[in-house]
Amino acid sequence: MNIILLGAPGAGKGTQALRIEENYRIKHISTGDIFRHHMRQQTDIGNLARSYIKKGQLVPDEVTLKIVEIALEDAGKINFMLDGFPRNINQAKALDGLVAIDKVINIDVDLKVLTDRICGRRNCMECGYTAHVSTLSDGVCPKCGGEMYQRVDDQEDTVRSRLEVYTAQTAPLIEYYEAQGKLASVNGMGAPDEVFAEIRKVLG
Ligand code: AP5
Ligand code: MG
Repeated sequence: MNIILLGAPGAGKGTQALRIEENYRIKHISTGDIFRHHMRQQTDIGNLARSYIKKGQLVPDEVTLKIVEIALEDAGKINFMLDGFPRNINQAKALDGLVAIDKVINIDVDLKVLTDRICGRRNCMECGYTAHVSTLSDGVCPKCGGEMYQRVDDQEDTVRSRLEVYTAQTAPLIEYYEAQGKLASVNGMGAPDEVFAEIRKVLG
């Protein structure tokens, strides 16, 4: 099954992707994670991506499409879940020419809760575990003991830009995939396990 996870910044795409990957054995492809990997390695792509990500803007389509094509080839173009891609109509049309998508899961949240969720988020350097700062007793990952850090784009003014970009460029994809008969929306306002229970109903 080939899936797209759609949702605003902080909607819980990464949180749910981990659960889906574990339960359905589908390869998780996150364009944000790939860019962050390049940023850590200080590659040309990473340095270019940082200049956009820091401002809460989209990385140019031609760069993003290149990394997605590579990731899809690596996955054998089958049994994958795209998280954070596509993010505008141009990317969606390009994807239509590359692979067949079976289902698009839209994690639907009230945009008002997202600034707190994102600004309070911490990620583990080692295993990628994500948690809200209020649930952590120190700066150490409760799963693996690695160091928890805050993403460069998780500051309040950057989050504002990310939400504006989402509303203008990404939200129209909901209608785009509805018209293709592939969209399933789930309520993203419950606890992560409740959201996952809804996703299970969609994926079967
Ligand atoms: P990306 O990494 O894709 O970030 P995003 O889409 O902004 O989404 P986030 O990762 O912030 O949120 P999420 O939905 O994964 O939520 P999470 O599960 O972490 O992209 C980053 C940047 O890279 C972009 O801004 C852009 O610059 C660039 N980029 C990436 N893809 C691109 C593309 N295709 N084209 C161009 N540029 C691209 O959860 C968030 C927080 O909420 C966590 O603290 C979590 O613990 C908590 N949480 C999760 N679920 C719940 C819940 N149900 N209840 C309460 N709290 C919850
Ligand atoms: Mg994410």
